[in-house]
Amino acid sequence: MKEKIAINEVVTRDGFQSEKEFVATADKIKLINELSQCGYSVIEVTSFTSPKAIPMLRDAEEVMSAIKREPHVTYSALIPNLRGAQRAIDCQVDLFNLVMSVSESHNRANLRMSCDESFATLSEVIALAHHHNIRVNISLSTSFGCPIEGAISEQTVTRWIQRFAQLKVWGISLCDTTGMAYPSLVTTLSQRTQELFSGITTLHFHNTRGMGLANVLAGIQAGIRSFDASLGGLGGCPYAPGATGNITTEELVHMLDLMGYDTGMNLDKLLNAAQQLTDLMGRILPSQLLKAGPITQLHQPPTQPH
Ligand code: COA
Ligand code: ZN
Repeated sequence: MKEKIAINEVVTRDGFQSEKEFVATADKIKLINELSQCGYSVIEVTSFTSPKAIPMLRDAEEVMSAIKREPHVTYSALIPNLRGAQRAIDCQVDLFNLVMSVSESHNRANLRMSCDESFATLSEVIALAHHHNIRVNISLSTSFGCPIEGAISEQTVTRWIQRFAQLKVWGISLCDTTGMAYPSLVTTLSQRTQELFSGITTLHFHNTRGMGLANVLAGIQAGIRSFDASLGGLGGCPYAPGATGNITTEELVHMLDLMGYDTGMNLDKLLNAAQQLTDLMGRILPSQLLKAGPITQLHQPPTQPH
């Protein structure tokens, strides 16, 4: 029996949130409907944030209510506060992905709150979600380093893990907002999280410094079986200086397939969707696999001039 690894798609949230040109609502819906056929565990559809803070996702309600939901896919959304939670409940979001940073400076830049203020707000959101029987994941941004403050101590990260574990959340994501994670740090924090928290631990990497897939391997070796990734490698937080794309879903799936893991994903469909996303964005995306093709794609031998 192959070991299962869950893949969570974030392109229509993390991928689109910092684009300059608004992606049409109909295009977002079409893309999500196609992604729903690819085998994901979770698709993060959008965010219920302030439309002033994230204008690209101001159509959250429209997108959430128009997509065709497949029963085996969990449809989640990012939520920063109670107002966002109420909007998400009204649209029947399956899984709340709450967000706060473990560094004060990035939390203030991103959410205009101190970490303690975010925690107080999110505690109320968790109570509301539990009242409605909605699963809650908490995404801890800047867990592997903050672009404003630098290294974050292990104690800081574990303190937030413990506080949210006490609130009985379903999952915790350690998020590497600007690609500051490196494999040995991933090993340490993955182990600590699983010691302190019995729910699902997810790793969320950005490939800003080329360490994304190396970090995934460190996570797998430490027992993690759930990863976020973005189609084509789009992504980045608009309030994190220097942020660039997430690890690329098709590259992650290609690698895990070759290694014999069961991701449940259809790589051909995924590559098709990535090509369509390239056409939609009108530019070459970071995905290396889209350029090179899978290793099963062979070529005619090159001919030499005589
Ligand atoms: N959805 C829609 N509108 C919201 C909202 C939400 N979740 N939260 C607040 N607002 C509105 C308020 O109603 C108010 O509107 P008004 O100006 O018309 O009266 C306005 O936004 C300001 O509200 P306030 O509570 O003062 O929020 P703020 O301006 O301090 O912003 C956040 C706080 C958290 C709402 C905002 O910073 C945000 O949405 N950040 C998300 C950042 C993000 O997604 N980053 C990338 C992912 S890591
Ligand atoms: Zn991210």
